[in-house]
Amino acid sequence: MLANPTGPTKRGALLTRPLLKLDQVSVHYDSRPSAAVSSVSLSINSGHTLGLVGESGCGKSTLAKAIMGLVPISAGALFFEDQDITRMTPRSRLQAGIAMQIVFQDPQSSLDPRMYVRDLIAEPLLIAGRSTTGVAERLADQVGLPRDALASRSHEFSGGQRQRIAIARALAASPRLLVLDEPTSALDLAVQAQILNLLMDLQREHGFGYLFISHDMAVVRHLADDVAVMLSGVVVEQGAAANVLNAPRHEYTQELMHSATLGQSASAVENFT
Ligand SMILES: Nc1ncnc2c1ncn2[C@@H]1O[C@H](COP(=O)(O)OP(=O)(O)OP(=O)(O)O)[C@@H](O)[C@H]1O
Ligand SMILES: [Mg+2]
Repeated sequence: MLANPTGPTKRGALLTRPLLKLDQVSVHYDSRPSAAVSSVSLSINSGHTLGLVGESGCGKSTLAKAIMGLVPISAGALFFEDQDITRMTPRSRLQAGIAMQIVFQDPQSSLDPRMYVRDLIAEPLLIAGRSTTGVAERLADQVGLPRDALASRSHEFSGGQRQRIAIARALAASPRLLVLDEPTSALDLAVQAQILNLLMDLQREHGFGYLFISHDMAVVRHLADDVAVMLSGVVVEQGAAANVLNAPRHEYTQELMHSATLGQSASAVENFT
């Protein structure tokens, strides 16, 4: 069974400023006539999870990449703890101690197969010019990786273990915000539940803010404090998870919830006790 995510960090975070704030963010790809992301505004607090849902191709990953500085923002502004980071590259953010990291859906393509796990995990610290002593061991313990994994390459591991490596790497530079772009959808259901539990434990322990992108509405219901619903690059509805998921106002959210009810058997939450 997935653990109950409610903890002290959730209540305490209500008093703090947003960790991340997007103000009317748009992204245009040169090869596309229309914006992939259009005037999106949202915010995420410490210890809180914003679930981002919407059909394939609606712009969720583009928004995630824009937040991480991996694709340029064409209009609007992005703030991390009130600092304007709209034009900062990923490297300059790391060097400036902007504490946010991303975990992608497919750890196979996001981890360099030629690198040893120890170096994969420590690399963000090297880029930031910080000491890596003992860090890989500490993070391996934290994400449930055996220490002897550090001397291997990532392709020698299962999908779930690789995702643990990706999470350890994301944690190396002491992030306060994690962008999780469908972090479990490449995994089988049993492993999904393990990784989701790990993510919830880490959030409880460290008070991370999460942007959690998922197609699995049951998982979003379990994890998210707030939910934003995207359709064709636009956020059509957002608010407290209980309101958006239980009493959706936009027709598209209503459709999404209807399909989720029909497809419940395919969720990591529904299948494991
Ligand atoms: N590098 C790119 N260049 C041009 N168009 C792109 C690029 N990446 C994505 N797109 C297009 O932008 C739109 C949004 O794609 P994106 O990957 O953000 O969707 P998504 O919501 O993450 O979908 P999925 O749920 O399938 O992961 C799609 O029409 C996609 O084809
Ligand atoms: Mg995507």
